[in-house]
Amino acid sequence: MNKNKTKITIVGGGSTWTPGILKALTRYKESLSLKELVLFDTNAERQKHIGEFGKLLFKEVCPEVVFKYTTDKEEAYRDVDYIFCQIRTGGYPMRELDEKIPLEEGVVGQETCGAGGFAYGIRSLKDMIEMVKDIRNFSKDAWILNYTNPAAIVAYGLTKEFKDDKRILNICDQPINMLVSMAKILGGDAQTLVPEYFGLNHFGWFTKLYNREGKDLLPELKEKILEHGFAPKDAEQRDKSWLDTYALVEDMVRDFPEYVPSTYVQYYLYPEYKTSKLDPTFTRANEVMNGREKRVFSECDDAVAQGTTLGHNVVHNDAHGEMIVEIADTIHNNKEKTYIVMVENNGIIPNLPEDAIVEVACVLGNRGAVPFHVGEIDTFYKGLLENQYAYERLTVEAFFEGSYTKALQALTLNRTIVDAKKARRILDRLIEANKGYWPELK
Ligand code: NAD
Ligand code: G6P
Ligand code: MN
Repeated sequence: MNKNKTKITIVGGGSTWTPGILKALTRYKESLSLKELVLFDTNAERQKHIGEFGKLLFKEVCPEVVFKYTTDKEEAYRDVDYIFCQIRTGGYPMRELDEKIPLEEGVVGQETCGAGGFAYGIRSLKDMIEMVKDIRNFSKDAWILNYTNPAAIVAYGLTKEFKDDKRILNICDQPINMLVSMAKILGGDAQTLVPEYFGLNHFGWFTKLYNREGKDLLPELKEKILEHGFAPKDAEQRDKSWLDTYALVEDMVRDFPEYVPSTYVQYYLYPEYKTSKLDPTFTRANEVMNGREKRVFSECDDAVAQGTTLGHNVVHNDAHGEMIVEIADTIHNNKEKTYIVMVENNGIIPNLPEDAIVEVACVLGNRGAVPFHVGEIDTFYKGLLENQYAYERLTVEAFFEGSYTKALQALTLNRTIVDAKKARRILDRLIEANKGYWPELK
């Protein structure tokens, strides 16, 4: 790694999240000493929209940075310092099935939770393992910052496959999305808030929220949520399904007033209610394909046709792009800033298994993520998280061992399913739908 000549590659360059990352990179280019930026994708057609937009943006804003987009692994991975990874194996057509098959069987159909997350997890693992091997073939010290979902399953699987690799960091933007939303409700700046948080990815709780003076604002926040509800910071840009999802935080705080949960906890606490509110003929995948995807690609194309990126709004969530770029900057310059990310438990929460991948506050720097101790958690949370850990672990083992029995155990344990006969019906349909993506389960 040459600290003064940084090369960054975004894997999944054709994602609609890429423009937000590009925008954040233009702001951090000096701090990161950015010399070369490469977008890599296996789908050239898809990546071209974003690639051409990025080329124009970098020509306009930072012509000194070499910008490329490619489908060539060597060009993407050779001598790279930071990989930002966000791939979706099977694309949106498979996300649609992940959401619809469980809903048709009467249980939660969601991208990362329940049976949908299970199907997606097994698909992601194969490509993610191949990707890490490819990267290590060309760049053994590159930092791999991974957003690919379901991050909990991906993180557990990668940790098992690459035991000694200390430069893979799995991250999720939802804690930051929630923090900026909380700051808006409290009338302050998210940068001034110091959270305490524990859980697994997409299954966690804010337990404290300190301001600069050291006062815990969580009690005040909970009161405000109970009085006025909970909404994302960028509510006017969000589709209805996300507004409904944020709104349910109020119910969770009313039922379990101790902490403020991640929005994702609702799929496990209210599986019947969630299922009743989701439409098996039109899911989030359809909403994204009809909305965000069309909007971002056509805005990119328009900008390229007009020869300028000015006046084209292609970013749909600033916090997402900023998080991954800030984390790279924090590692690069050893800034030791605190982020909520995924790490192996190893006693952070002593009454959860050592090898669980927990999501907690960590100081980030050139040593990677150094977690803050959490301590023992209470029975309710321990029960929920142990159950989810067992589900995640069995999912990963089902993948590595090609085990039908472990897959069935995983789905049966999942709180969104519970019934083993239902789990078997869903599993058999998912096996059929994922032919060519999954290993054979025997
Ligand atoms: P998308 O399908 O729009 O984009 C993913 C891109 O990856 C596509 O262009 C696809 O062609 C490409 N791709 C697929 N397999 C690949 C491979 N093996 N190598 C290289 N490129 C490959 O999906 P999206 O909605 O933009 O999401 C991308 C990923 O980011 C998903 O896994 C999503 O769940 C995840 N995500 C995670 C977070 C988080 O908080 N962790 C936030 C947002 C998105
Ligand atoms: C949040 C989560 C991500 C998830 C994304 C889905 O940001 O943290 O893990 O991928 O939402 O958003 P979408 O708009 O694609 O449903
Ligand atoms: Mn996430």
